[in-house]
Amino acid sequence: MLEFSLNFADSGFGATQLLTPTSRFTLFYEGAPFAQSPVKRLYSLPIQESSHKVPEPSSAAAIHSSPVLSPVLSPISQSYNGTHTVFRLLRCSGWGPELMNLGYFPHRGWLGLPGNLLVSLAGRQQQLAMEAIKHLDVKPGDHVIDIACGHGGAAYILKCSTPAARVSGIDLLAENILLANDMFPRIDGLSFAQGNAQDLPMADQSVERALCCEAAFHFPDKAQFLREAARVLKPGGRLVVVDFVWRSAESRAIRDHELARHVRDVWQWDDLFTEAEYHAAGTAAGLRLAREVDWTNHVTRPLQEIFEADVWLAQRSWGRRVLHDFQPLTRHFSDADWAAVAYTAAAHRFVQQHSRYKVFVFDK
Ligand SMILES: C[S@@+](CC[C@H](N)C(=O)[O-])C[C@H]1O[C@@H](n2cnc3c(N)ncnc32)[C@H](O)[C@@H]1O
Repeated sequence: MLEFSLNFADSGFGATQLLTPTSRFTLFYEGAPFAQSPVKRLYSLPIQESSHKVPEPSSAAAIHSSPVLSPVLSPISQSYNGTHTVFRLLRCSGWGPELMNLGYFPHRGWLGLPGNLLVSLAGRQQQLAMEAIKHLDVKPGDHVIDIACGHGGAAYILKCSTPAARVSGIDLLAENILLANDMFPRIDGLSFAQGNAQDLPMADQSVERALCCEAAFHFPDKAQFLREAARVLKPGGRLVVVDFVWRSAESRAIRDHELARHVRDVWQWDDLFTEAEYHAAGTAAGLRLAREVDWTNHVTRPLQEIFEADVWLAQRSWGRRVLHDFQPLTRHFSDADWAAVAYTAAAHRFVQQHSRYKVFVFDK
């Protein structure tokens, strides 16, 4: 086990990514030990109750016994806490932490790949949030909710793009709300609260706009989520849902295939809607589909190409050197890590052949 101390006031958080999952770390800020859950989760290294029992130094004992450093409890957290190698690879490529979407890539296909490989994933994630926000058409004075806001990045961008709007971010996980409040504190008209998309903590007809970006695939009852969004929207309000859908009703048959089960396990979802199911559930909830856009070629397909290019490079010694130069944190990936990434990439390719990435704009 590696013991690691970092003065993040000097060094930056990023170095925590060098750790292996069984590493233990202590952050210091202004000379004092600092171990707050958002920092740990932000940088995605699971603190595991490993079998490697090493005596704790007494100075660190209080931190290590702190509940905030215990293993993450919610199954959904597992998608984002670094348990999976794929998440570590994303983080090493600059993904997150304010946003948890896959990113919007303006370039398409193999000709666009070099450009997509060189850009930071964080910039692409901001672009995805901004593209989704364009569809919301927020006006000054509007109350906007970001349903399943994650770490709050899209709510913050919403607030920056329309400062006179009031923005409320809601997420199921307390740790995400803690982190959002840590990152975007004391901004008038921007708040975060814990809540379930299927039972929103808002009054009827209380908001003008609602966004749900890349989260509904987690929800066990998407029809109930649409009913809830419709309930809290004022007449004339708008809901924008960005989500994965099955390509057709027949595509659902692959759900229990071993590769699909792997993807469902990594991202913690049970089932997707088809487009037709989104239309029907939206209508049943009292919403009218105003627009629908397919972003598969801008989101899942280019990211898959990057993913597969990384795997291809990692299988060659010169390729690994290239990767290490462009993504230095991947130096710490073992052969077993790369094998796990290759399997996950194959599984994602399989599911992608049967799914799409879409934007649904519903008006009330
Ligand atoms: C891929 S992240 C997207 C976060 C954010 N929308 C973004 O684009 O950065 C999915 C989010 O859905 C949240 N989530 C999952 N199930 C939820 C539910 N039933 N109610 C509210 N949030 C939920 C998770 O906690 C996670 O933050």
